[in-house]
Amino acid sequence: MSFHIIGTGMYVPPKVVTNHDLEQLVDTNDEWIMQRVGVKQRHISENETSAEMGYKAAVSALENSNTKPEEIDMILVASVSGDTLCPSNACIIQGMLGVSCNAMDINAACSAFLYLMETAAGVFARKKAKKILVIGTERMSRILDWNDRGTCVIFGDGAGAAVLGIGDGYLDSVFHVTGGMGILDVPQPVGNSPFYTKEQYLTPFVHMKGQETFKFAVTSICSDVKELLAQNNLTIEDIAYVVPHQANKRIIDFAATKLKMPKEKFYVNIDRYGNTSAASVPIVLDEMNRKGMFKSGDLILFTAFGGGLASAASLIRWK
Ligand code: UT7
Repeated sequence: MSFHIIGTGMYVPPKVVTNHDLEQLVDTNDEWIMQRVGVKQRHISENETSAEMGYKAAVSALENSNTKPEEIDMILVASVSGDTLCPSNACIIQGMLGVSCNAMDINAACSAFLYLMETAAGVFARKKAKKILVIGTERMSRILDWNDRGTCVIFGDGAGAAVLGIGDGYLDSVFHVTGGMGILDVPQPVGNSPFYTKEQYLTPFVHMKGQETFKFAVTSICSDVKELLAQNNLTIEDIAYVVPHQANKRIIDFAATKLKMPKEKFYVNIDRYGNTSAASVPIVLDEMNRKGMFKSGDLILFTAFGGGLASAASLIRWK
């Protein structure tokens, strides 16, 4: 026994920053950002932490699933942009909800929502929970170098959440990690140890080698999706929709072409939110759910990739 997704929610902060706004900050332009990335605007938090945004997405998912906070047995949260390493965002959100259940963070950068679902599936399999709240939330603006046009035009802030309830909807998943540093790194701030012999780390911002990440992204989406379909004796035609991580519209288009899959099956909202890292998959999920795009019995494929380098694909049958 694993779970069904029984409700979804999302939250984005009110401030909208357009590409034209960014033209005032760095040497960039709307045409380049639209052509190379597909982002038109992003929401940027001025005063809300990733925990506060995650809480709002969680409340929306609880309402959507008709679940009271006290019915939740576990809270799993993913974020690379929390204001504190300790307490974890999961513990902060647990406190905001006023509940007493177990709560922990999982870090798998942009792929993290799929890692949250896999972890939740293990907890359901051990019969340790009836309902689990999973949240991806990011205040990427906090960890961007706003002088680096190679990254600051791509990302955005926001949160997505889902309530998982006992069921048999989570069918299978694949995970791949090629561990190491140097391609997509967010170093922690350096402390003031008197024992350091040198400044050991880069500045605490997103450092990304764009083209290498791009190649990894397209390759991993295609191989993860093919592997997942093959091990479930399914073909592309069996899939109703793909819920893809929103890193770059071109990555999604490339992957759809390589997989010979109609582009219409891949939901895209990067134009409105940018890349919200761990929040991107649950934000897509919530938009699709609230539009009524999923029908009972539909096979939904999730795919994500990012820092680690980690990637994953998951298969769900809609309740
Ligand atoms: O979610 C986490 C995973 N992240 C990703 O998957 C991101 C993957 N990578 C990408 O999406 C793309 O590599 C980027 C969007 C980051 C960059 O696109 P690109 O097509 O790989 O551009 P590039 O880095 O090769 O740069 C092309 C040109 C360069 O100028 P020259 O050397 O050709 O004169 C850059 O300096 O574009 C220039 N450039 C810009 N121009 C205007 C780089 N950033 C900008 C900018 N505005 N913001």
